[in-house]
Amino acid sequence: MPGRAEDRAGVAIDAVRDEALVCTKCRLAAGRTNVVWAAGNLDADLLLIGEAPGFHEDREGVPFVGAAGALLDRMLAEVGLDRSRAAIVNVIKCRPPDNRDPQPDEIEACRPYLEAQLAHMRPDVIITLGNFATRFILEDQIGITRARGRVYRRRGAAVVPTFHPAAALRGGRFGGMSPIDAIRLDFRTAVTLLRRAAAAPREPAPAPVASSGASTGDGEQLGLF
Ligand code: URA
Repeated sequence: MPGRAEDRAGVAIDAVRDEALVCTKCRLAAGRTNVVWAAGNLDADLLLIGEAPGFHEDREGVPFVGAAGALLDRMLAEVGLDRSRAAIVNVIKCRPPDNRDPQPDEIEACRPYLEAQLAHMRPDVIITLGNFATRFILEDQIGITRARGRVYRRRGAAVVPTFHPAAALRGGRFGGMSPIDAIRLDFRTAVTLLRRAAAAPREPAPAPVASSGASTGDGEQLGLF
């Protein structure tokens, strides 16, 4: 929300983006067409985190523009949101070859960029899409099927883990529910949390820190919604 700009943590996010756009810190730089920095509004109160750019995202330099992106936009619209009300980023900013999983050293090389995005936004609510984003934010090697259905508190935000839209497109059922229904439920939870946060006084911004990856210490798990 632009009115909250004064609360943000003094991160020179445009300079970090410019650095990311020419990054050569890992092997993925060699095969990319574009660095995929972010979509939507990096001053919003909601941050969605995916895994890694795919073919279309690499071509266009924008996260979630392929089939998974279309589903994501549809699910956002169902809860009254669009890309102007949320930022959408990935754990890693360059496409892995053949859409393979990101490797641990690639995630570490890319960590400062997501850390800077988190520090700049200080979002009220984070939706993690799939295993990689969920593990990054929860700092726990937990699988998404086990993690979802609860709300966690990390980095001053309520964290809502949900299935990755690409997994939802593959179908299946988890705990008696389709992944699309699970995402729908989780997005509704996120909207409830956004409304609750908007009504609550905001904590002051912490002093700017180097990208350490440290959590803010508020790691307790909240109750089920
Ligand atoms: N899947 C992701 O995780 N991110 C994208 O940007 C596209 C597909």
